[in-house]
Amino acid sequence: MSLVPLRVLLDHAAENDYGVAAFNVNNMEQIQAIMEAADETDAPVIIQASRGARAYSQDAYLRHLMLAAVELYPHIPVCMHQDHGNSVATCLSAIENGFTSVMMDGSLKEDGKTPADYQYNARVTAEVVRLAHLRGVSVEGELGCLGSLATGHGEKEDGHGAEGKLSKEQLLTDPDEAEQFVAETGVDALAVAIGTSHGAYKFDRPPTGEVLAMDRIEEIHRRLPNCHLVMHGSSSVPQELQDVINRYGGRIKPTWGVPVEEIQRGIRHGVRKINVDTDNRLAITGAIRKVFAEHPEKFDPRDYLKPARAAMKEVCRQRMIAFGQAGHASQLRQAVV
Ligand code: G3H
Ligand code: 13P
Ligand code: ZN
Repeated sequence: MSLVPLRVLLDHAAENDYGVAAFNVNNMEQIQAIMEAADETDAPVIIQASRGARAYSQDAYLRHLMLAAVELYPHIPVCMHQDHGNSVATCLSAIENGFTSVMMDGSLKEDGKTPADYQYNARVTAEVVRLAHLRGVSVEGELGCLGSLATGHGEKEDGHGAEGKLSKEQLLTDPDEAEQFVAETGVDALAVAIGTSHGAYKFDRPPTGEVLAMDRIEEIHRRLPNCHLVMHGSSSVPQELQDVINRYGGRIKPTWGVPVEEIQRGIRHGVRKINVDTDNRLAITGAIRKVFAEHPEKFDPRDYLKPARAAMKEVCRQRMIAFGQAGHASQLRQAVV
């Protein structure tokens, strides 16, 4: 089976009331970890690459690694998605490189840090939708800026995110605007801002509704019941993954992520794509640190990359089960073939 557009996956997820994790990748081991977990759980998957990931891995490597994934696991429907595209040109180059879905993140200007106004966002997103749909590629848009409702700051941990202090209006997707945006742009999926941010440092205590506005998702879903919603910054930052890193010489400060139960609540209210990167980064780093600490004599990269890959696979497996995508690969494949 070749790579499938995001829309196909999310339509099936909506019809069958489940969510699909979108895992970020930068290298072969991460792709292998996701595919092994998908194979084990019979889950359709979304594999996504940020602009930074594409620069790091190079498009040609990434393209061929994805072809390998499809060849090795023909029974698993896979979508290849551009995460946080910053411009029409970025989205077009992703399409040229075989991506079957692109995110046009027009919530920020092309520099990836200046909050954009509604008109700019709607215009640039509609243009990407027009060009992508001509080629059978799906489009995710974003309305509202990711960032903390407690501090008003976007995150800069991974280089992409709003700079300066943001107002509550900027940090929460407006339901009226969401209706207008989806109608004007024709996006296949809409990423919403509800107080989450990228990286490990999302909340300084277990989040309540004050800082994680799940009710906003419920309201937007009421207004747009047929629109597939996307949650970014949705790593759960589990304590046990933090503990492994800290036990072996790392320094992760106390922090909380988005609880899996809150994501499951989102899935009951129209969330179909859930972006997870940080949890896998934590798992990989913890596993590598453990090998380095316990076996300082080792220097074959396979000695630490294998446990790293296994640790990421376990996170992916757990999320695939928790989000409900497990068990749906064969069913979806029969529906699209
Ligand atoms: O967009 C957020 C993802 O975690 C990707 O991060 O830009 O460091 O690759 P990155
Ligand atoms: P996390 O940093 O919470 O994993 O979020 C990833 C993300 O939203 C990628 O777009
Ligand atoms: Zn994101």
